[in-house]
Amino acid sequence: MSHRIARTTLTALALACVATFAQAQQGKLKVGLMLPYSGTYTALGVAIENGFKLAVEEKGGKLGGREIEYVKVDDESDPAKATDNVNKLIKRDNVDVIIGTVHSGVAMAMAKAAKESGTVLIVPNAGADAVTGPMCAQNIFRSSFSNWQPAYAMGEVAAKQGKKTAMTITWKYAAGDESVAGFKEGFEKGGGKVVKSLTVPFPNVEFQALLTEIAAAKPDAVYSFFAGGGAVKFVKDYAAAGLNKNIPLYGPGFLTDGTLDAQGDAAQGMLTTLHYADGLNTPRDTAFRTAYAKAFKLQPDVYAVQGYDAAQMLAVGLAATKGDITKKAEFAAAIEKAKIDSPRGSFTMSKSHNPVQDIYLRKVEGKENKLVNVAVKGLADPARGCRM
Ligand code: PHB
Repeated sequence: MSHRIARTTLTALALACVATFAQAQQGKLKVGLMLPYSGTYTALGVAIENGFKLAVEEKGGKLGGREIEYVKVDDESDPAKATDNVNKLIKRDNVDVIIGTVHSGVAMAMAKAAKESGTVLIVPNAGADAVTGPMCAQNIFRSSFSNWQPAYAMGEVAAKQGKKTAMTITWKYAAGDESVAGFKEGFEKGGGKVVKSLTVPFPNVEFQALLTEIAAAKPDAVYSFFAGGGAVKFVKDYAAAGLNKNIPLYGPGFLTDGTLDAQGDAAQGMLTTLHYADGLNTPRDTAFRTAYAKAFKLQPDVYAVQGYDAAQMLAVGLAATKGDITKKAEFAAAIEKAKIDSPRGSFTMSKSHNPVQDIYLRKVEGKENKLVNVAVKGLADPARGCRM
C-alpha cells in the first residue's frame, strides 16, 4: 500500500518537474505594448500599461508559469505609421502577444497584421467596430468595448429623458463616426432625431466655429465623442461658451474619464454612459482601486481597468495552455468560456471576442463619475459582419 502511494507521489512529482521544465524551456513571454506614449491620448496609454502591469504583479509577475518581458512601441495614435509600428513587434521583436491600442484607426491596422501573422492581439481600448466585426478572428480579442456599446446606451438614455433633437460633434475618424452612429441608433429608436453632425479632424481642438453653430441651432441636446487631452479642451470650451447652461452635453464616458482634474467646474453635472463608473462599491473594485492607487499614486480610470483586464484575459488563455500561446484553439476556447472578474463587474466574451457587459449611466460630481444606475444590462455588440 505505502509503496503504491510512494509510486503515485513520485509519478506526480515527475510530471510536475516535466511541466516546470517545459515552461522554463519556453523562456520569457514577450509582450509587445503598442500604445500612445505621445499626443492627445498619452495618459490613456500610460493608464493601460499601469493596469496591465498591476494584474501581472498580482499574479506573482508570471502568466502561465512564464516571466514577462515587455517591448514597447509608441504608436503616436498615427494610423499612417501603424503597419510599420506593429511589424516592428511582430517581425523584428518576435513578440508572443501584442497589447494595443487606444486609437481605432491604428487598431484596425494592427488587427489586419495580427490576422495575417496569427500573433495574438488583445485590444485594451480602441472601439473600432470592425475589430470584432468584419475583422474578427480566433487570435483577436478585446478587453474594452466596441464604439457602438456606450454610444447606443447614451442614445436610449437621451430619448428616455424626453430629448427630441440632438446635434453631434466629434473627431472625424472611425471612433467618432461609429460613436455617433451608435448614439443615433439608440436615440432615433426612442423617438429622437439627430438633426446635424459636426466634425473636426483628429486630433484638432479648434471648436469655436462649431460651438457658435450649435448655439444658433439650439438642439435639445448635444452628443459628443472626444477623449484624453481633446476631451479636456472640448468640455471646457463648451462651458466657456455658456452652452452647458441650456443644452446638456452627453457622451460616452471617455468625455469625462481620467479628465476631471483638468476639466474642473466645466464638467459638473454631466451625464455619460460607460462600462465603468466611480462608486461601484463592490469588494472587487475597491480592492483594485486601492492596489492601483498604492502602486501608481493615481486614481484608476476606465483605461486602467481595460489594461488590467487585458492581462486577466491573457492569464486565462495561458493557464489553459500551460504557457504555450501557440496552442491557438485551446487559448481562444479558454477565454471564450471564461467569466472575467473585472473591477467593472464580471463580463463574458461574445462570439466575436468583445465583452458582453453592463453599461452604466454616470453623473459628474466633483472629481468623480458617480454611478447613477445601469443604463443597459449585459449589452453585447451586434458584431455585424463577423464570421467566425
Ligand atoms: C478609439 O479611437 O477607439 C478611442 C479612443 C479613445 C477613447 C475611446 C475610443 O477614449
